[in-house]
Order: sequence, then C-alpha cells, then structure tokens
Amino acid sequence: TTDKMFYGMPLTDIPNLFQTPPILSDMHDIHDVGHTFMIKPFKYDSLNPDREPEPLHGMNNYHDIWDDNHVRLPCSLFNLTNDGRLRWPIIQNALTQLKQKCDEKIATVNDIKLAIEESNETSFKIGCLEQVLNQAYSADQRAYFMSFILPNMISLALEVGYVCSQSPPLLHIEKNGSVTMLQRQFNRKIGNKHHTYQSLNFIYLLQSGSPWKIEKLKLPKGVLTFRRFALPNEWIPKWTESQTPLCKIHMRKDQTIEDMHGFLQVDFANEFIGGGVMNEGIVQEEIRFTICTEMLVSVLLCEVMLPHECILLIGCEQFVSYSGYATTFKFKDNFIDKTPKDSWGRKLSHVVAMDAIYCMNPLDQYIFENMRRELIKAFTCFRIPKSMEKFMFGVATGNWGCGAFNGDKQLKAIIQLMAASEAHRPLVYVTWHDQYLLESFWIV
Ligand code: AR6
Repeated sequence: TTDKMFYGMPLTDIPNLFQTPPILSDMHDIHDVGHTFMIKPFKYDSLNPDREPEPLHGMNNYHDIWDDNHVRLPCSLFNLTNDGRLRWPIIQNALTQLKQKCDEKIATVNDIKLAIEESNETSFKIGCLEQVLNQAYSADQRAYFMSFILPNMISLALEVGYVCSQSPPLLHIEKNGSVTMLQRQFNRKIGNKHHTYQSLNFIYLLQSGSPWKIEKLKLPKGVLTFRRFALPNEWIPKWTESQTPLCKIHMRKDQTIEDMHGFLQVDFANEFIGGGVMNEGIVQEEIRFTICTEMLVSVLLCEVMLPHECILLIGCEQFVSYSGYATTFKFKDNFIDKTPKDSWGRKLSHVVAMDAIYCMNPLDQYIFENMRRELIKAFTCFRIPKSMEKFMFGVATGNWGCGAFNGDKQLKAIIQLMAASEAHRPLVYVTWHDQYLLESFWIV
C-alpha cells in the first residue's frame, strides 16, 4: 500500500474562517437572546490592537449578585464565613500580606500556602506547587515567579470587583445562552455547590501528584465567548429519509485537531466539560484546556451537557506548545498565537465540546439508540449557528470517543460524516497516525 498522507479534497479547498472571516455585526447591534455581555459595546480595530473594551458597568461600579444563576465572586458582600463575617476582607488581607512579602523578595512557598489557608479558613496541601517551585523551576524561574508572576496574579485577584463589575451568569442545562467577557476577567474563584457542575478548584492541581500535573502549572491565563446550545427536538434530522449528499472530506493521518486553524475544532469532551483537567486527566480535552487555559472558564460556567446539547468556546488563545500525550505529556515552550481576530476582538478560534458515550461494553455502541444518540450529539455540535449561516466553514475532528471512551473508530467516523453532511459542512478528519483507518474508510 502507498503511504499517503491524505485522501479526499485538498485542505485548501475546504472553506476556512480565515478565507471568509465572518463580518459579525458590532456588539451594540446584537440582540441575541440570552447573550450576556460583561463588557461595554466595542469594535475591534486591527490598527489599534491593544485597545480593550471596558467592563460592563465601568470600573468603579460593582453590581453584586449572589444566587444560583450566577458565579459567586469572592468580593461579594454575601460571601460570609461560617460564623457570619465578611470573607472578602480576610482574603484581601491574606493576599496583601503575601504580595508585600513578594515585593520584599522574602516570600516562600509556605507563605502561599498560608495565604490560601487563611482565605479559606481551612488547611490545604500544595505539594504539587511546592515541587514546581522548589524542584522543577530553576533559581531564575523561581525568582521570576515569586517576584513577578505571583504579585501580578494577586493584584488581578484583588481587582476582581473592578474588572468583572458583575458576576457572569451560569449556563444551565437546556438554557441557550452566551457569555462574552474580557480575557482579564478570568478569575479562579468559584462558589456553587451543585452536583451538576464540575469542580473548578485548583486545589487538586496543587496537591501532590503525577509529574505531568506539574506541567499544567507553568501556564498563564486569560478569557472570551462561551455559548451553550440545545438542539430543539423538531430540528433532529430524519436520518433514514435524508436525501442530503455526503459532504466534502479531507482525511489525513498527520497533524492534530488544534493544528487545523480556521475550522471548527472538536474537543473530545466529557459531559462535565474539561473532564479531568483540574485533576489527573491529560488526554485530548485536558491537553487542549491546558494549552488554551482560558477554556477553563467554561468549567466554571457550564452545567453538565445533555445528549442534545453542546458548548462553543470562541476566541480562546493558545499559550504554550507541548510534546507527548497522556503520561508522556510535557510542556514544550511558550506559544505566540497568531490567529487573527474578529470584529469583537476574539481570536478566530472556534472549538466545540462534544461528549461521546463511554463504551464500557464495546458491543453497546452498535445498539440503535446509542448510534442515534451519537448522531444527534455530533449534529448538534456541527450545526452552524444562525448568525454564521453564510460561513459554512469546515469541521476538524478525529477519533472522537475512541480513546478513553473506548469507541470504534470506523463507526464514529461514519457517524461524524453523516452528521457533518446533514449540517452541510465539510469535514477535516485527522486519524492520529492511523494509516489503516485512513485507507479502510476511504475504500468503503
Ligand atoms: N488531535 C487529533 N486527534 C487526537 C488528538 C489531537 N490533539 N489527541 C488525541 N487524538 P480521547 P475520548 C485521538 O481519549 O475517547 C477526557 O478525559 C487519539 O486517537 O481524549 O472521547 C475527556 O474529558 C485518541 O485516542 O477522547 C473525556 O472524559 C482519540 O483521539 C474523555 O477523555 C480520542 O481521544 C473522552 O474520551
């Protein structure tokens, strides 16, 4: 057999966001139902790329919301300790003292631990952070972290009420909604106790653990648009009656999904978006969230996904490159993400979280109801939103559900081909070095 890199259409023939950048209306013209802007109306100007939109209510006008529909920010007046004291002054005090020690260049890892413990009024283990700072980092890197990165993180955390000016809404089950925010508005503090939300607690990452976990701590942070969508029942395609021709396809064995710039890139997600990213997991989804840190915001905002739901992550930047996979994953280098921006100033990076079924018994995946579930999930994810109908750019995917979730690559490839065809979008499929899948799929 010839060892061909790709089959089907050349990549350059697949419509791409960069070739036809969407001319989204300026923000003040948008009245998208359920779209919360945490920033004032804004138009991105490529000649003035450093200009940033202002927080929604301006800088000195914090609107305090503390309920089940919003992220509970640490600076809220409703954030109380168990014995009824305001928690924010306690946090401010702990952080200010730590910052002072950083400025005096005498801060130690133990001071960080104390500040976290004081803020939370409970004890924490931070062995993993300790290992990064005291062993993995060189003396220079450590000094840079303690005297530059950490004090800057503290300043940003102390400013949360100015930068955010309002709590972002949570994206609940079956609620179509979007949140658009500043990259700076990404804050690590959370407070919801629902079991249908995944935990976004950095404490698991800071505890002792596997060496690959340490790689995740070397990353910077930031944010953008998070959109939750539920497919109405009446939009589900009638698969057996469909006359829709199969879509264009470009299938290749080299390269990764994140290399496929300008296409809708699929995140092989967990129903709880992010999967094991805040803990030990480090396969496709967790790697993506680790190199594009801003995607972590979706973990904070989004409730568990149902079979007919998806989450779109728009504009998230890649900050680092990596090598290896799973247990061999390693941070490689800083990454300068040159992806161009749309008229709202978001990177033209569109990612959709698509969670497959976990196949405990592989035979179950061929049951009609399970195949139907996967078809609906893939169609929900691939369907273009109304505002983008003129831009049927390609979908970049691969062995969805066929690693940790144990699915059959050939079946999943056919399901995704059907879903993309029904959504009228071309498919870019990377087989992750699988020559057999490339050939067998093509010959069928
Ligand atoms: N680009 C293209 N293909 C890839 C890439 C990549 N960057 N990385 C991996 N593959 P997996 P799943 C291929 O196991 O089975 C997470 O914990 C490779 O062939 O990540 O849907 C989530 O949070 C790999 O075996 O996805 C979920 O809990 C295959 O894609 C769960 O895993 C599947 O990657 C989802 O598991």
